[in-house]
Order: sequence, then C-alpha cells, then structure tokens
Amino acid sequence: MAILVTGGAGYIGSHTVLSLLENDYEVVVFDNLSNASETSLKRVEQLTGKSVTFVQGDIRDKAALSQVFEQHDISATIHFAALKAVGESAQIPLAYYDNNVYGTITLLEVMQQHKVYDFIFSSSATVYGEEAIPPYVETMKLGTPSSPYGASKVMVERVMEDFGKSDANFRGVSLRYFNPIGAHESGQIGEDPKGLPNNLLPFVAQVAVGKREKLSVFGDDYPTQDGSCERDYLHVVDLAEGHVAALKWLENNSDFAGTDAFNLGTGSAISVFAIINAFESANDIQIPFEVAPRRAGDLPAFWANADKAAQALNWQAKRSLEDMMKDTWRWQSNNPNGY
Ligand SMILES: NC(=O)c1ccc[n+]([C@@H]2O[C@H](COP(=O)([O-])OP(=O)(O)OC[C@H]3O[C@@H](n4cnc5c(N)ncnc54)[C@H](O)[C@@H]3O)[C@@H](O)[C@H]2O)c1
Repeated sequence: MAILVTGGAGYIGSHTVLSLLENDYEVVVFDNLSNASETSLKRVEQLTGKSVTFVQGDIRDKAALSQVFEQHDISATIHFAALKAVGESAQIPLAYYDNNVYGTITLLEVMQQHKVYDFIFSSSATVYGEEAIPPYVETMKLGTPSSPYGASKVMVERVMEDFGKSDANFRGVSLRYFNPIGAHESGQIGEDPKGLPNNLLPFVAQVAVGKREKLSVFGDDYPTQDGSCERDYLHVVDLAEGHVAALKWLENNSDFAGTDAFNLGTGSAISVFAIINAFESANDIQIPFEVAPRRAGDLPAFWANADKAAQALNWQAKRSLEDMMKDTWRWQSNNPNGY
C-alpha cells in the first residue's frame, strides 16, 4: 500500500514525504511541477536512503490521476497541490478556483471511482476569516476570508463536508496550518519561492544571502505589542510530522467517518520585529529593513488553539524559534539560488 501525495515536490509536501518515508510508508508523488522542482524529491531520497515514485501530472487531469490509482495500491491521499499566493489570487481568481477547487473535486471523484476514501487536506488558518477573534479554535464556524485563495480553502472544506454526508466511506481530515517556516535540518530541502517572496522568512533569508537589499516590514502601526503583525510560526518539519500523526489517527480510528479538522500551530504568536531579532541573533547576521505601508488583507494578529491536535493526534510543535531561524539560514546559505 502507498500514500498518494499531491503537490509532494513542493515546500511542505517534500518535508512530509521525508517524514512518511522515515515512518516506513511507501509514497507516490503526483505534482505538475508548476511551483517545484523534482530535485527536492531526489534530495529526500538521498536523505532517507529510500525511493519515491514520482508522476508528473496535473490534478485536473482525470485520466492521468486514474492511471496513478490503477498502477499503484493507494490507501490514502495527502493533498497539498494548490496555488498559494494570496495577493496573486485576487488578480487571477479563476485560476485559483480552477486549480484549488475544481482540481480537488476531480481528485475526490477519481478517488471515489477507485474506492480510496482516506483524505488529508492542506487547509489554512485563513478559513476562520477576518471576523474571527484569536486564538482560533476548531469549534468556530468557517468564516469569510479576504482573498480568493482563502475562499478556495473554505470551499474545499465545504465540498469535503458535503461529500462526507453523501458517501459514508469518506474519511476527510482538514489540517489548518498556521505559518510554516524553516527547513529540514540537513539544509538540503527548504522553501524555494519563485520571484519576490510573499512570506516573511524567505524574504528575510534572501536579504541575508544578499539577493535583496532590505526587508519590507508591512505596517508598524497595528494594535499589537510592537506595532508589527503577529503570527503563529511553526517549523515545517513539525508540520510534516503532523501529517503522519493525522494519517496514523485515521488508521487507528476505523470507526471514524465524515470530516474533521485540526489546527496545526504552536499556540502562540510572534511579531515581525521579533522574527528579525531572532534571525539576527541565531545566525549573527544583520537584516536591514524598512517599514512599508500595510498590505491589504493582512490581519494584525492570529494564532492557534492547538489543544485538539495535542489531545487527539498526540501531536505538538516541538522545534524552537531558534531551530526555525538556524534551519532557514542553513537551507538558504547552502542553496542561494534554490534548487
Ligand atoms: N506555505 C504556507 O504558508 C501554507 C499555509 C497554509 C496552507 N498551505 C497549503 O499547503 C499546501 C502546500 O503549500 P506549500 O507551501 O508547500 O506550496 P508549494 O507551492 O511549495 O507546493 C504546492 C505544490 O503543488 C504543485 N501543484 C500546484 N498545482 C498543481 C496541480 N494543478 N496539479 C499538480 N500539482 C500542482 C506545485 O508544483 C507544488 O509542488 C497548499 O495547498 C497551500 O495552500 C500553505
């Protein structure tokens, strides 16, 4: 039996493939490489001494997906494949709904045809919407995200819920990620954004390595402790391990049917200025920055209530802020131009 990992060549996907292999799962990755390189998987193979089956394809291509289910004995799918740039999603919303929503529906249809029902979905804290008051807890209703990207995650969670009601075999888990950062401690795999990074840590790392002159801090007048935005940053390897924990939870809970959701975060928030300080002191590098205007859609602060994952999945983020900073820098300095 193998686990199908869509989007498995990407940032979180490649770290999860590594964790799966370390836990003796067989893995089939299906990725169209629109935002990734197959090199990430080659490195995962080197790091683990195990092999990964890679199929290049698009989740909207039913025939290509069907072939994967025909050729491999798949027991569950972990579904990372998506477009993920919040700002871009407002410029090309149709591409986001097509890729993220239609793509997921196609995947679920093909899974149903092949009688594969265990499904772990990459959701996001953004599903709680702008109106939710942190800490976010899973008992809160799905909200109204400010971007088409966020809306695509809410839509997929709704699709999963309705599908679960219609087919009693379906077992869907939404993992709502907070802010994954860092890289594998080997410095061999990490986040490799194309163009100007949207997220803070890749931006900091590119300034540190000299690819960009200075960091822009978007807003220093938020109602937070130091005026900059606060987020719940967690180490990507902890996040990867959260997927293995969710998979084991599904395996150990044969009575479970329908859908459930778990927050994956640390349970506390850190400001942009605190991240800059942490990166500087962990790595002994100065990060020049300037304060720029607020970005549309950025919320002042949010973080997870991570109790449900701790209790049910026996999962907690273990790695420290210093680990996150050191591992980010090890990856970036070893790979100044990415893969
Ligand atoms: N990185 C974050 O901060 C974050 C936060 C919350 C949720 N997520 C979600 O986690 C998932 C993984 O994110 P990531 O940061 O690893 O992004 P990523 O871009 O590195 O990974 C996504 C992968 O999916 C592939 N892909 C995209 N569209 C595809 C398609 N139509 N068919 C096949 N493959 C396709 C890309 O090539 C890439 O390898 C995404 O669903 C994202 O929305 C990410």
